[in-house]
Order: sequence, then structure tokens, then C-alpha cells
Amino acid sequence: MTAAHRGLSVLPAAGWADGIADALAARIGSHPDFVVCLPTGSTPRPVYERLPSALSRAGAAMGRATVVLLDEYLGLPAGHPVRCDDQLRRQVIEPLPEPPATFLAFDVDGPDPVAACAAYDAAIERAGGLDLVVLGLGTNGHVGMNEPGTAPDAPTRVIELAPSTMAAARTYGADPPPERGVTLGLAGILAAREIWLLVSGDRKAPILREVLEGPVTTDVPASLLRGHPGLRIIADDAALPG
Ligand code: GLP
Repeated sequence: MTAAHRGLSVLPAAGWADGIADALAARIGSHPDFVVCLPTGSTPRPVYERLPSALSRAGAAMGRATVVLLDEYLGLPAGHPVRCDDQLRRQVIEPLPEPPATFLAFDVDGPDPVAACAAYDAAIERAGGLDLVVLGLGTNGHVGMNEPGTAPDAPTRVIELAPSTMAAARTYGADPPPERGVTLGLAGILAAREIWLLVSGDRKAPILREVLEGPVTTDVPASLLRGHPGLRIIADDAALPG
């Protein structure tokens, strides 16, 4: 594979997280009202660790920005350390010297998660739409919790988690793992002005190859991003063998 794939940037693993944190800080610096949707998981964590210093180097702050959570588990109590809202609060929001103006998370503690999904899309629209969606890549090709079989026009919704996603949740510390979740739909992701798909580590090499070189198919939801004009796939060299 080569960086000749459209939208693909390859960074050395040692500087990968720094490069992404700097790019994010630059976006926020030039657009203080930035609306950015962020994922959880192990991939973005080193980026988040570097964000406060990257913002400071760029002379940027998030006090006017909106942070939107990408997805959430259903069935974990508020404050559970594996809850995505809790992870983003601890890893992104709390370390910032100035918190974002708005942190938008799913209301999964209320009685009606379906209504919470509709309310979520409306809240994103009221915020002005997403300038950027940052995504991790599931080993089965999922983005957010849009599992294999997801159509490109899939709305924000309640979903049944794939076995590999449940297994990942167990490794994060949810045992038994949740069986359902809510996620920004592929339609919402594709409506963003920019999409950054973050990929690191050799464990993601096989699925990254499929995303870049395989067919565009609902079997590999991340492949459906390939037609988006604002797509950047930012991989480290470990995820791109050969
Ligand atoms: C999880 C999340 C995704 C995440 C992906 C990759 O199940 N729902 O939002 O990006 O899987 O996780 P990781 O970065 O830990 O490999």
C-alpha cells in the first residue's frame, strides 16, 4: 500500500499522535466555533493526551467549540468508566484549561433511547452541523457503532453490537459487556464537512487494507467513507505494512 491512495496520510508511529493533535489544534485555532465529533477507544487516547499542549502551542482554545460524542453503550450506569461520555469527559474535557462551550452526549439514562437519537440529530443541527468527525476503525470495519451491514443513509439509532465490539467492550472493563448501543449514523458521519479516520497499530493492518483497496461495501462500513470529499485516513506506519 502507498500514500497514493486518495486522502491517505501515513505518519511514523512515533509522531502519529502528535501530528493529529497539532492538526486538530490548528483547525480549532482557525475556527473557534468548531463543532467536532470525537470517538472513544484506544486509538484516539494518545491524541487526546497531547491535545492540551498542542492547543497551547497553536495559541488556540476550545472555549467556543462544541464537542459531540460519537457513540455510547446502552445498559451501563452513568459514571461507569467504560461509558463513552465518561471516557471523553476524563480524556478530553477535564484536561483542557478551558472546557468547550458545549459537550453533547446521548441521553441513555432516560426511558427512551430511540427518542434520544432523534433529539441528538436535532441538537447537532442546532449547533450548525458537524465540521469534523474523528473516527476510530473497528477490526470488523465498523465506524462508531455502525456495524457491518450498515447502509450509507443509516440514521442515528439504537443498534445491536457485533460480537467483536462486545469483546472489545469487555477488554475495556465492561464485564458482562453491553449488547446494545446508540451511534451517530453513517448518514450523520457523511454529512460532516470533514472526516478523519484514525488508524494505528499492526492489529488494524488487515482491515485498513480492505478499507483502502477492497470494494466499497456495506460489509465494511468504513469503505463507504471513500467517496467523501473531505475524508482523511491518518494511519501510522505500523498499520500499513509493505
Ligand atoms: C469501538 C467504538 C468505536 C472505536 C472502535 C475502535 O467499538 N465503538 O468508536 O473507534 O471500536 O476501537 P479501538 O480504537 O480501541 O481499536
